[in-house]
Amino acid sequence: MTANSFSSVSLDPPLVLWSVAKSSPSHDPFVEADAFAIHFLGADHGELAMRFGRRGSDKFADIAHAPGITGAPLIEGLAPIFECKTWARYPGGDHTILVGEVVRFVERNHDPLVFHSGQLGRIDKRQRQAAPLASDSFARNYLPYLLARASFNVSGEFHARLKEWDLSVPEWRVLACLSDVEGLSVGELAAMALMKQPGLTKVLDRMESDDLLKRKSASSDRRRVTLHLTAKGRARVKPAQKAALEHEASLLSRFSEDERATIKYALDLLIDSDHGDDSEQ
Ligand SMILES: Cc1cc2nc3c(=O)[nH]c(=O)nc-3n(C[C@H](O)[C@H](O)[C@H](O)COP(=O)(O)O)c2cc1C
Repeated sequence: MTANSFSSVSLDPPLVLWSVAKSSPSHDPFVEADAFAIHFLGADHGELAMRFGRRGSDKFADIAHAPGITGAPLIEGLAPIFECKTWARYPGGDHTILVGEVVRFVERNHDPLVFHSGQLGRIDKRQRQAAPLASDSFARNYLPYLLARASFNVSGEFHARLKEWDLSVPEWRVLACLSDVEGLSVGELAAMALMKQPGLTKVLDRMESDDLLKRKSASSDRRRVTLHLTAKGRARVKPAQKAALEHEASLLSRFSEDERATIKYALDLLIDSDHGDDSEQ
């Protein structure tokens, strides 16, 4: 069964405990058994956690397993594992507390699966490194700050990689926008790339002299100048875009389907309520 009531107890002898609900069909078999095995699930084992956390079905069906040294079944390929001999059984309200002596430890490092606030998840190492914010601090509750910080976290990782393709952040924004829509005017590009015009013009001058893009005058109105990627610009942005999509996919894989929909919905709401503030990001 899936259990999150695990705790380590003693080093000498090596003892651990977990508690099993009296209401659980597996209660008596576990309490009566003289051994059990604890598998520590990794961040990618959410499905397994749910399978062994649901009543009824034959949980081991289609899962390769074999008896370990205590006779308790070990799931193939899953580690770390503690193989335990039952050391003590204690009453614990509507649970029974089982203490096991660890007689063998199968080692492997992995990102642990965590269970918090009723949800399975993984530890986000970047979040652990981020500066802590008290839940009642001004910044923790101030939406513009939260948006800026989210954007910083999300884009920062990818921006750090741009030099692999010899691109600066403004160049990446320009190329990514122009590869999406051919023939933008400078004003349209500034709005789309969230950049201010004087700074953008300098970036465009440099990119034109590097042969990454071309300015063209419209034949109907020579005052309207449009921007077009060159073959060199297209080739420069292509691997960066592929990496950007992979980065986005890895970022979103940290969230459940529902969380992704909620994030997108909330951002769409904010963008739709934007009345044309073109301040630089
Ligand atoms: C994340 C998670 C943690 C759980 N922790 C425990 C636990 O510590 N003890 C327990 O008795 N049941 C726990 N459960 C519930 C059991 O896994 C579930 O009742 C399971 O069906 C019991 O197996 P059984 O039907 O063979 O008795 C947990 C379930 C989940 C999803």
